[in-house]
Amino acid sequence: MTTSTTQPPETGASQTQDPFETRVNRPVAERISELTKQAKPDTLQHVIFADQFSRAALERLCHLAEAIRTIAKSDEGARALQDLLRHKRTMLYFTQPSTRTFLSFTAACQILGISCNEVRDPRLSSEVKGESIYDSIRMFGSYFDMIIMRTVTPQMSERCAYLVNDIAPRVNRLTPIINAGSGADEHPTQALLDIYTIDRFFNFVKRENPTLPGAGGIDNKTIGFCGDIGRGRTIRSLAQLLAKYNNITMHFIAADEPELRLGADIKAKLTQAGVDVHEHDSLDATHAGSPLLEQLDVLYMTRIQTEHDKDAGKTEARRQNDAMQAFKMTPQRLQQMKPHASIMHPFPRDQRFGEIPPQIDADPRAQYFLQARNGMWARAALLADLFGINDVIETMAKQYT
Ligand code: NCD
Repeated sequence: MTTSTTQPPETGASQTQDPFETRVNRPVAERISELTKQAKPDTLQHVIFADQFSRAALERLCHLAEAIRTIAKSDEGARALQDLLRHKRTMLYFTQPSTRTFLSFTAACQILGISCNEVRDPRLSSEVKGESIYDSIRMFGSYFDMIIMRTVTPQMSERCAYLVNDIAPRVNRLTPIINAGSGADEHPTQALLDIYTIDRFFNFVKRENPTLPGAGGIDNKTIGFCGDIGRGRTIRSLAQLLAKYNNITMHFIAADEPELRLGADIKAKLTQAGVDVHEHDSLDATHAGSPLLEQLDVLYMTRIQTEHDKDAGKTEARRQNDAMQAFKMTPQRLQQMKPHASIMHPFPRDQRFGEIPPQIDADPRAQYFLQARNGMWARAALLADLFGINDVIETMAKQYT
């Protein structure tokens, strides 16, 4: 697993053995159970990795996102939403670059009236004085009702969730932790908004074309992932969520370089979950005798995450390399796609590489800007769910439809 080196590393899990090392290496079921609200199965305590979301939880959150969206349409509804969690405070601790995740969480908090504060640069916090990340998290937990965090270190949010659980009996408070991206391993809330986007898109297609075979929902879909499969945490998390649906086929399209290709761990997990998994080295590949692009319901593009490259020469070579054209969307390739396919991208797209050139943006299949906006509603739904106000919102939604 790779770790970005563009930011100063977190201090904390430092010189000595990390206190949570054995716990993050337990079987996943044990870890999930420790991150779930014991009194209410299926209700998350902390949001750390995608596998925590059951299909039922995903459906509940998509429904809640739609409800919040409906209520917020009128000024009166938007004001009523802002009264719901006015007494709550959230800490956004983002020590790795972020635009959409940070801002959509901020906007989601504002939709529900939650006030937020941020630390984005550890050089401006006491970490420069040698404070460990664990002490910082403990402090945030004593001032705020929730901690949303993005770090360069994989599994850091999981370790922090265990810290919060351990001290809860002593401090009489359990501050939920949300993982907003941890190194190259997971990005569960991006996967949640991606699921919401796919579900919403195909439900829309079904409303517009009621007789179209296969329209509606996520079951039975064929998904292509293209670009930096190996280092893209959004792909790792989303593939695991999609595997919870029925009859899913996934095509992973990446250059034949070990760091860009699908990891063996995630491949084994998907296959075990019953996903039909295929790998290709070009968007122009054929599958079962016909062009792959003609078969996809969703094409999830990603940028090449050059911040992980150890030498700049490699990055430049990738940008200049003609063979990398095989992983870029073009008007010609777009023409081959189904009329009701969805093109997604977690963003940012890299204009120097050009995996999706702007001339694609006006096509109705280009869903990526909407996808980013959906992130705000999906994250508002997640916050509402964690703060336990689902029922209030569902009741309000009936009033505002
Ligand atoms: C992604 C991330 O940070 O993992 N962006 C995001 O959160 N929307 C993808 C990326 O950086 O390429």
